Amino acid sequence: MEKKIYKNYINGEWVESASGCTFEDRNPADNREVIGEFQRSNPEDVKRAVEAAKNAYDKWRLYPAPKRAEILFKAAEILVKRKEDFAKQMTQEMGKVLKETRGDVQEAIDMTYYMAGEGRRQFGQTTPSELPNKFAMSVRQPMGVCALITPWNFPMAIPSWKLMPALICGNTAVFKPATDTPLSAYNLVKACEEAGIPKGVVNFVTGTGSEVGGPLMKNEDVKLVSFTGSTVVGRTVSETCAPTFKHTNLEMGGKNAIMVMEDANLDLAIEGAIWGGFGTTGQRCTAASRVIVHKKVYQEFAEKFAARAKGLKIGNGLDPQVEMGPSINDSQLKTVISYVEIGKKEGAKLMTGGNRLVKGDYIHGFFHEPTVFAEVDPQMRIAQEEIFGPVVALIPCDSLQNAIDICNGVVYGLSASIYTQDVNKAFVAIRDIYTGIFYVNSSTIGAEVHLPFGGTKQTGNGHREAGTAALDVFSEWKTVYVDYSGKLQKAQIDDLNIS
Ligand code: UN1
Repeated sequence: MEKKIYKNYINGEWVESASGCTFEDRNPADNREVIGEFQRSNPEDVKRAVEAAKNAYDKWRLYPAPKRAEILFKAAEILVKRKEDFAKQMTQEMGKVLKETRGDVQEAIDMTYYMAGEGRRQFGQTTPSELPNKFAMSVRQPMGVCALITPWNFPMAIPSWKLMPALICGNTAVFKPATDTPLSAYNLVKACEEAGIPKGVVNFVTGTGSEVGGPLMKNEDVKLVSFTGSTVVGRTVSETCAPTFKHTNLEMGGKNAIMVMEDANLDLAIEGAIWGGFGTTGQRCTAASRVIVHKKVYQEFAEKFAARAKGLKIGNGLDPQVEMGPSINDSQLKTVISYVEIGKKEGAKLMTGGNRLVKGDYIHGFFHEPTVFAEVDPQMRIAQEEIFGPVVALIPCDSLQNAIDICNGVVYGLSASIYTQDVNKAFVAIRDIYTGIFYVNSSTIGAEVHLPFGGTKQTGNGHREAGTAALDVFSEWKTVYVDYSGKLQKAQIDDLNIS
């Protein structure tokens, strides 16, 4: 791939940063490979982008939603046409295997079509008034400029979860992608441009959290900040926005668990746990980093699971044989390595893995062995803290209730699952697990765009993305009363007699 310099997209133009500086986007599977150079933007760029979004807002908000939808439909078609290229570029820029990056682009396609459909829905309510000759209804209204701050693990899907509902509701946007994955973000923005999005409606500013993200969320013309990333940064977003009551939609960490009951189809559960634990190299908010296994089947599960993990083929995600790619960058790899040390010190039993891969070409990437710890106590740090890497903790349990308590016993609440053949056990778990997403006889991953996505406790702040729930984030209700009685009527006070 030839090295290219990519620009910011502000007010319908591709422009260089006011800083005059760029940063490199490198392949985590081979750090010698530069994917492209992107603008290292600064607060001045942010100011210009917000201004452009603010100026474009009135025209866009007044453009009928079904017409906005037509642009989204076109953007979706462009994504369909370029899916394979975009997937390959995504694998090169962030390492996950091609099958998964195709899924990532597909998720953006699904969301774009889905939200385009909302152009002709966005239903409100009409309901009788308690007074005669009075009409009552509720309508959605947009909010203005939305700041979208997105992570690198789903570099096209997650931006689409934010951008498409923001646009269909009539908002304009300033989008700051993760510094590790600006190319996939660029591809999404380019699709919007080619689909005919009016100037200023979508603005794209690349750069760091401190130089772009911070000024963006502090800007008083930004009305909403939608953020996906770590709980630590999410807390900063929340604190920064609190004084002015700026809306925030936060999707943060997870410590998701699969519960494997004594009656489970073990082979199915193992397959689900491998996919949940090592898919995307464990770098999903929805990854299954804990597997809670009933002691009656624990030994068998642990041995088979560790053997499967050990056999996974690690390497460059463009190779169709490869099952797991690298960590995203050096710092993430160091986090993984440090948690392996923590697990050993805590006394967990290392069943397989535990090392960085350094032989041959591996040394040029951030590869780490799939790692399984067994006999993990639920209170150990490796069972409590999000690692975001290929490290799975196996935790024995002795009953469904015990499994539920362990599963709920973390500060996060994104996703969880149960493997059982017993419908009664499944329904108890459905009721008692306090997460935003729950699966029966499936892994902790596999969310679809037309259902709410998000978590409880420190995973989120009460909002959900995707589905119609996303419309609740990106619009506000306006309740409208029309009184056509020609006199002052008083709700709750007027006495109405039918006699
Ligand atoms: C994430 O984990 O950051 O359900 C998003 C899934 C995907 C989305 C994951 N559809 O795992």
